[in-house]
Amino acid sequence: MTSSFTVHDASGYEQLMGRWSQKLAPLFIDFAGLANGEKILDVGCGTGSLTFALAKAADLSEIAAIDYSPIFVEAANRRNTDPRITIRQADACALPFGADTFDRALALLVLHFVPEAGKAVGEMRRVVRPGGLVAAAVWDHLGGMPGMRMMIDTVAALGEGGRQLRSRYCFQPMMQPGEMKRTFVEQGLTDVIETELLVRMDYQNFDDYWAPLAAGEGPLGKYVSTLDAAERSRTEIAVRDAYEAGRRDGPRSFANVAWACRGNVP
Ligand SMILES: C[S@@+](CC[C@H](N)C(=O)[O-])C[C@H]1O[C@@H](n2cnc3c(N)ncnc32)[C@H](O)[C@@H]1O
Repeated sequence: MTSSFTVHDASGYEQLMGRWSQKLAPLFIDFAGLANGEKILDVGCGTGSLTFALAKAADLSEIAAIDYSPIFVEAANRRNTDPRITIRQADACALPFGADTFDRALALLVLHFVPEAGKAVGEMRRVVRPGGLVAAAVWDHLGGMPGMRMMIDTVAALGEGGRQLRSRYCFQPMMQPGEMKRTFVEQGLTDVIETELLVRMDYQNFDDYWAPLAAGEGPLGKYVSTLDAAERSRTEIAVRDAYEAGRRDGPRSFANVAWACRGNVP
């Protein structure tokens, strides 16, 4: 298996994550750097949060984007009006590009869904020219996402299936401190730096938080879709209680930390 990310619907993804990855993309671009005229690869572009932010951030000559999901590739292509951008279906572990093709290869919120994440980093290194740069960011599900931990801890308290989900969710690839840095070094990148990027997820009310999960989006939504009607209702009531935290339903804001790592191609 080359991707553990389940794709349901592109607009559902936007509500679950795309709206937040759009906020994260400029911070990640600042960390990865860009220069006018460069050729950039966006690995695991999804619906294009990073791809389209790259196009705005510098006068790039070319932006190639790939994603494993044909549904996301189609959605991103529908959004695209920029002739510098090409978007196609491909696997991060077998990139369809020759060696030394790009100035930088970037992956935003992707490597934690790639079981062989080291192989993907090796591929990113291969397609970047010597002197170029590879960078990636992944969420810190265990210690850096209180909004999602709220749901995960609630379902874990409700049953064994939820406990198993929590364990899988908190320990996806590349999420532990220093793990991505070690992998970058193992893949031959130099001057490797790991840092943290923070964005807030601001919800209008519980429905705004819950709707994409109830619709089956992402790993937590996939779990909800496996529940029978009674379990689903019990789960929704318990997660709502955690969201409201003893106050009336309404806006809530959660901090979210992503690990970000970059390294140079020797
Ligand atoms: C959380 S989404 C991030 C999408 C986008 N980069 C963003 O920031 O909104 C994870 C993406 O990684 C893609 N993905 C997972 N494994 C992949 C692989 N082996 N090759 C290419 N894409 C992959 C998924 O299809 C999905 O679009």
